[in-house]
Amino acid sequence: MKILFVAADPKPERWTSLIQQHLPDAEIQVWQPDNPSCAADYAIVWHPPATLFDKEPQLKAVFNLGAGVDALVRIPNLPRDIPIVRLEDAGMAVQMAEYVAYHVIGISRDMDAYREQQAAGQWKLRRPIERSEWPIGVLGLGHIGQRVAKTLATLDYPVMGWSRSAHGIDGVRSFAGEVELDDFLAETRVLVNTLPLTDSTRDLIDHSLLSRLRPDAVIINVGRGEHLVDEDLCRAIEEGKVTRAVLDVFREEPLPSSHPFWQMPQVTITPHVSARTLREATIAQIADKILALEKGQPISGVIDIQRGY
Ligand code: GLV
Repeated sequence: MKILFVAADPKPERWTSLIQQHLPDAEIQVWQPDNPSCAADYAIVWHPPATLFDKEPQLKAVFNLGAGVDALVRIPNLPRDIPIVRLEDAGMAVQMAEYVAYHVIGISRDMDAYREQQAAGQWKLRRPIERSEWPIGVLGLGHIGQRVAKTLATLDYPVMGWSRSAHGIDGVRSFAGEVELDDFLAETRVLVNTLPLTDSTRDLIDHSLLSRLRPDAVIINVGRGEHLVDEDLCRAIEEGKVTRAVLDVFREEPLPSSHPFWQMPQVTITPHVSARTLREATIAQIADKILALEKGQPISGVIDIQRGY
């Protein structure tokens, strides 16, 4: 069996050695744009070039090295007749939950103010947290969104979730579809985005949406940069509608140094690290799925290209 590894990693051997450990009989190659076709059976990819699919038309499945498949479904010649498989959790959901909880706790417990007080040598108690003042709305209740919502609910924050169809999650009020979006927003102060990027979610977080949140809103974006209209967030911050934004993903990454977000004290920027792809768990999952496909068994995580995730 031949496996092609296609990702712009300066040290691809960190991946290929793991693939080899899990699939000792496999012949593994690292994609080089100028190499001839290697007639690969499977491709393991992150942001692959479209030429991959012209050169390797015999692929039996494509495995994405991340949960979000937006970069893949955008490729016009992505094969439609083979499984395109996204990463399912592989240690990412807990990291997302941690990242979001860290920021929600830090903001709702006024931790920045305590740091400033420390710098000024001040011992001063601030108002204690009133959880009812921090209702959290999680956009997207896929595996990651659910983990985020459940984690915050465990900490006794009022938590709501919005998704295409209703979900029954303990401690999380579920809102579904376009018709319930307004009600969801009207009750939300901390908006956490975990949605997949599709044509219907692109630019969703715009000025109109931000204006429908509760006052002193907080935005945490761990989905994709293209969910958020940057100028609209800047405007909502200037107007005082949004008081804090924690952004891990951006339309252009790395975020250009001229972007206004860098200069805004209300904005916290992290370089797309809310959930790192964990090599061992990722390759173990992909290898298991390759072995299942080889045995003709069904696998989970196959995306619906039409739907976009
Ligand atoms: C990371 O952004 C992912 O999609 O897994």
